[in-house]
Amino acid sequence: MGNLFDQKDLEDPAQSKIPKTPTLEGLKKISQNCKACDLWKRGTQTVFGEGAPHSEVMFVGEVPGDQEDLAGKPFVGPAGQLLNKALEEAGIDRCKTYVTNAVKHFNWEPRGKRRIHKKPSNAEIAACRPWLDAEIDRLKPRVIVCLGATASQALLGKEFRVTQHRGEFIDSKLAPFVAATVHPSSILRAPDDNARAQEMQRFIADLKKIAKVIRYLHLHWPD
Ligand code: URA
Repeated sequence: MGNLFDQKDLEDPAQSKIPKTPTLEGLKKISQNCKACDLWKRGTQTVFGEGAPHSEVMFVGEVPGDQEDLAGKPFVGPAGQLLNKALEEAGIDRCKTYVTNAVKHFNWEPRGKRRIHKKPSNAEIAACRPWLDAEIDRLKPRVIVCLGATASQALLGKEFRVTQHRGEFIDSKLAPFVAATVHPSSILRAPDDNARAQEMQRFIADLKKIAKVIRYLHLHWPD
């Protein structure tokens, strides 16, 4: 792949070198060579999105964590386990969804022997955006759910506030139904068990709205 994905190529999205033809699986392979920002130097591998190739629902997180970086799969660590639990409670089968991140390389800083998650910069989010756009283009999901502020602001604009609009459906050209809710990590960071349980219930309530739309689509808008 050589310099195919150097930063300078991706500064102008029109010059994005992401080929037009590959399937999601093809894109995943090509993305392993991505050098659009410097995160590739520190991460183990590109963590591309994963899920059912014809899924109607896409969940977009922020950036892979430590366990995702090692496994090469999104949302397999503690936040992923919490997401799985909430999806199950809301009646959404994760196997029928597609899960990805706004940024596809682990961003971390050392703390002792640990690699601590670091929020990606705007430049890193912008550099990775062609991959997210390509995933949306190939999958053509009917429902997109942004998990947390990074994904929401990347897809819905810098002014978007999850705290004000969580669980609402937002007008967007990206998909017929687009919504945002909190990132599952924010629930893990709740100050105590009580707050965590409450936040989990609010998260499940948001996901139940997504489940309702999925049921509506199956009834009124079959393939
Ligand atoms: N947090 C994210 O945003 N994505 C993951 O894949 C894991 C944790």
